[in-house]
Amino acid sequence: MNRAAVLCGLGSWLPPAVVTNQDLEAELDTTDEWVRSRTGISRRHVAARDTATSDLAVEAGARALKSAGSDPVDAVVVATTTPDHSCPATAPSVAARLGLGTVAAFDVAAVCTGFLYGLATAAGLIATHTAERVLVIGADKFSGILDPHDRSTRAIFGDGAGAAVLRAGDAAEAGALGPLVLASDGTGSDLICVRSGGSREPWHTSTTPESKAVPSPLGPDPYFRMNGKAVFRNAVERMVESSRTAAGRAGWAVEDIDLFVAHQANLRIMHAVADRLPVPRPRCHVHLDRVGNTAAASLPLALDDAAVSGRLAAGDRVLLTAFGGGLTWGACALRWPELGTV
Ligand code: COA
Repeated sequence: MNRAAVLCGLGSWLPPAVVTNQDLEAELDTTDEWVRSRTGISRRHVAARDTATSDLAVEAGARALKSAGSDPVDAVVVATTTPDHSCPATAPSVAARLGLGTVAAFDVAAVCTGFLYGLATAAGLIATHTAERVLVIGADKFSGILDPHDRSTRAIFGDGAGAAVLRAGDAAEAGALGPLVLASDGTGSDLICVRSGGSREPWHTSTTPESKAVPSPLGPDPYFRMNGKAVFRNAVERMVESSRTAAGRAGWAVEDIDLFVAHQANLRIMHAVADRLPVPRPRCHVHLDRVGNTAAASLPLALDDAAVSGRLAAGDRVLLTAFGGGLTWGACALRWPELGTV
């Protein structure tokens, strides 16, 4: 047997409140027409003020565990950019609230590529016999880090969570992960950034008299900032490149791909990637029109939506790709397995 991580459960959760483009029109200098034509987004879900990322993660995680059946998991990986706290990680509290006991639990941070990094981490835990079953959750509450006056980010991002369970199995089985491709380019780290609140620019300066920490001349900025145009160009180029590599390593021609699930960043980005590969646009799953860009939750939410809406049949060749802050990007090939429904 050629040990591999095999997808065996999937679940997702969206907070109930919906913000439509018309709602944004009432608050910001924007129009439904602009947002739909430039991004493909019509509405997004937004978590309540007292809802944390872990609350979304627990809901999605519980659904994925149910779809995977009754065997316990022995590790939980939460991919997020919006953890409940900067310390400790969010995953241990999610594991505890899911009643999973003292399992290994930690976060991975790769912004919108986080779920792919989480899958790769789970595959590593399984390959090294550290775990037999791993719950990977992508969860983000981006509404908490958006500048309320920034129309370019408010129009794009939404909140949500998606989760998958991976079990030890055989590389030849349907659902076996991979080939998986991951990459980064930190020279572009300023293109997607929350500048203040980390060790580079803490909220407060050190209390020691020797401290040389100086507040930024720009003043603190707690909000998510993005250079939309540069991100757009990089996202297209990198998702095309990593998708080709993953498909090539799987021995697939691009025309063999039954469903292409790209990070739901912007419909124009997804279509540009599909056209360049080329994968016919109808084989490209689109979920962002209803949820916006949900960051680390985007891929598992889109996959769950595709599964629930009957777009996936056992044996289908599925190609996932993502791009996010860091910069980070990657792709993953898998043959769709038979999955339990929740
Ligand atoms: N409503 C109306 N106008 C808006 C707007 C909105 N919601 N958001 C931005 N604009 C304006 C800009 O302010 C700019 O105005 P200006 O020319 O007066 O400065 C104008 O539209 C054009 O901006 P530009 O950035 O050239 O537009 P764009 O076609 O590139 O679309 C994004 C902007 C943000 C939608 C687009 O760049 C994008 O989707 N980038 C990638 C974002 C992404 O996917 N991020 C996550 C990656 S993980």
